[in-house]
Order: sequence, then C-alpha cells, then structure tokens
Amino acid sequence: MGMKAMDTLALYGGTPVRTKPWVSKYMGSEELGTEEKERVLDVLEKKRIFRYLPKGLETSECAALEAEYKSFLGTNYALAVNSGTSALICALVACGVGPGDEVILPAYTWVATAAAITMVGAIPVLCEIDESLTIDPEDLEQRITPRTKAVIVVHMRGISAAMDSIMFIAKQHNLRVIEDAAQANGGTYKGRMLGSIGDVGCFSLQQSKVITTGEGGMLVTNSEELWQRAVLYHDGAGYQFRFIERKVPAFPGQNYRLTELQAALSLGQLQKMPRILEQTRSNKQKIVSELRKQPKIQLAPVFGGEEDLGLSLIFYVPSRESAKNVAEALTAEGIEAFHVYDGVSNDQHIYVNWEFLMSKRDPWGDHYPWSLRPEMEMEYSASTCPFTLELLQRAVQVHLNHLVTQDDMDDLLTAINKIAVRLL
Ligand SMILES: Cc1ncc(COP(=O)(O)O)c(C=O)c1O
Repeated sequence: MGMKAMDTLALYGGTPVRTKPWVSKYMGSEELGTEEKERVLDVLEKKRIFRYLPKGLETSECAALEAEYKSFLGTNYALAVNSGTSALICALVACGVGPGDEVILPAYTWVATAAAITMVGAIPVLCEIDESLTIDPEDLEQRITPRTKAVIVVHMRGISAAMDSIMFIAKQHNLRVIEDAAQANGGTYKGRMLGSIGDVGCFSLQQSKVITTGEGGMLVTNSEELWQRAVLYHDGAGYQFRFIERKVPAFPGQNYRLTELQAALSLGQLQKMPRILEQTRSNKQKIVSELRKQPKIQLAPVFGGEEDLGLSLIFYVPSRESAKNVAEALTAEGIEAFHVYDGVSNDQHIYVNWEFLMSKRDPWGDHYPWSLRPEMEMEYSASTCPFTLELLQRAVQVHLNHLVTQDDMDDLLTAINKIAVRLL
C-alpha cells in the first residue's frame, strides 16, 4: 500500500483504517447464555409465568429481581414493570403529578420521557442540556413556575446528571425529582447509585440498555407511600395488596406488570452487569485520555470520568458542517459514526423530532393536556432550547460496548486523528 493511499481519507478514495465492522451498541443481549437459558427453562418447567399467582408468590422471579435491585441500589423499595416508559408513568402518578401540572425535562432524551408526562395529563416543559449531555441546572431553575410539580432528570448515554445542584434546586422549589436512568443502569454519582438519589428512579430493560429482558423496566424509591402508589398504578387489580397491607387510598391503575419469564431472564443479566460496566468504563477512560490530546475536538469534563459509564463516545467539533463531514469520514474509515442532530434522520432523542409535542397533539386529534392550560400559551419550536440544538449539531457519536478491544480502540483513535488533521 502506498503512503498516498494511507494518507488520503477513505471518504476520498484512500485506504480505510479498518475493514472489520464496528461493534454493535448492544451489551446485555450479547451476553445471553446458559444462565439465562436455564432460568427461563426453569420458569417454563414450573409453569408459573404470571407473577401474582397466589402459590409461590414470595419466591416469584419478579420478587427476586426486585430484591436484587433493592440491594444493588440500596433503596427500600423496587417495582418490576414491563418497560421504562411504564416505570416513568408510574413514577409520575406515584408523585401525584397530574392534569395541568408542569414537569421539566431535558430537550435531549428519548421521546418516551416526554410522552410519559403527557400520558398523566401534565405539560412537558423543555430545558436545555449542557455539554455533559444532561440537564443544565441553571436553565432548570429558569424554567420553574408556581405550577411546576416535578423534574425528570435523564442520565443520558450513561452519563450522570449533576445531581447535587438538581437536588438543591428541587428542594428550594419543593419539586419532586424523578431520575430517568433508562440509559444508565449501574451508573453512579459521587459514589451514589443512580436512581437512588431522587424521589423515584426509573430503569429500562429494553434491548439497547446495559442489561435487558427484551422489554422491561424497574422503579425504585425509598418512600413506602410512593412505592404503594406505583404498585396500584402498575396493576389495576392490585394483586400485590392481597399479600401486603395497602396504606394508600385506591385509584384505578393500568396493567404494566412484568412476566416471570422476563424477570428470570434479567436476573441472569444483573450478575453480568458489573463486569460489562468495568469494561466499558475502562475503555472509555483510555479513549478519552487519548482524545484529550487532539486539540481539534472537544469533550466535556465529565466524559471518561466516574460519572460516565462509557456506553457511547460523543465529541464536539466546531460546526454543523464539520460534524456532518467527520461522521461521514469516520464511517468511511470503518468506524460507524453518527452526526447527532443532522436535521434529517428524525432521531427521537431530540425534541424537535417529537412531532406530537411540536404540534401539541393528543391521540384524539385535539390538544390535551395543553388545552387544560390555555393561559400558558406553551409553544415548542427550535428557539425553545437553542443551545441544545446548536450543541447536538456539532456532536459526533460512535457506539461503544464492552466488547471493544484494544485493536478497536487503536483503530478509533487512528481514524479520529487522521480525520481531525485533514478536515478540522
Ligand atoms: C432515556 C430513556 N427514557 C425512557 C426510555 C423508555 O424505555 P422503554 O423503551 O423500556 O419503554 C428509554 C429507552 O427506550 C430511554 O432511553
């Protein structure tokens, strides 16, 4: 191979740094193996696939999964549910958030965070993120009104939000704090487990997450009252209250119960999580410490530190145009990369792509819950969170997982440095 081919970007016909496919974004599901198989088969053999059958209730797989979460996170209560979205909805109901209340959320999160708020009749109030990719506490404070009831803090891409500042602000304004840790299962903030710091923590066990049951979720809290309210909402029949004393008044619920098969599957996964995260964290630390030597790209201080699970690499370049070029050039070099906000791909992590929110539309063609608060004159547009959009326009993302090897990291760094000198 001539020097020229190595020097030329693959985008312009040069030799790519790598021809092997880049790693997938999946973690827990890559590890599915004999333990999970055995647990699921055991459940099938027992013929006990519904959690609340009276016989064997205390030894159910769902109860075991809740017990593991409680001890893992150090919370008093846990509730297994069938998705991260239903965990968020139960958390909002548990906190008493309802029609016409305002709930603040970051402008960069999965669409489910916003949808959950409207499902309980509350009005989503968007807030800027900062370069950490999580909610900006200063902007959060600006968006509080007398009608704000709660804030959903999202630990985005496995990065912990600034919980000290958020808890301080929430206390001053008497707000409930719900942690959306769907993307940060197993993460920490100053040594404390994510999900255990606010009033309620919510996790997703969908396949893109650290560990998975395919579809599933978990809600954790230290408050018996909030837990009981969540239990009521996750199960309209209130089955659990046939076995424990109900201390809250009855209200109607949904059916967000997890099956025994799903619980058994993720029990096997929870044991594997520390090893997965040790690998992703140490890889990210290595990648970030090398990338900090490359002056043409920017990284937030939090990246690669304790508060970053290392599930993804995001870096910033000077402009929207250069982010597009860098993502294309990296992909051509054999490292699949994404321009985070390209204005085209309709990524449902970015608020301007949440069509129902932008048009304030409900499932019946009307404008509930915004119609409850006409005086609010709530509008959502590109100018609602301009900093977030500008930041994400300059952001390039590469998926990481625990299977990234030293060779993969070498290829990644070689490709970024090759591109940085030529394109930035
Ligand atoms: C930040 C965030 N919140 C909530 C959810 C919803 O979780 P689920 O897909 O399990 O409903 C997801 C993932 O899908 C997510 O990434």
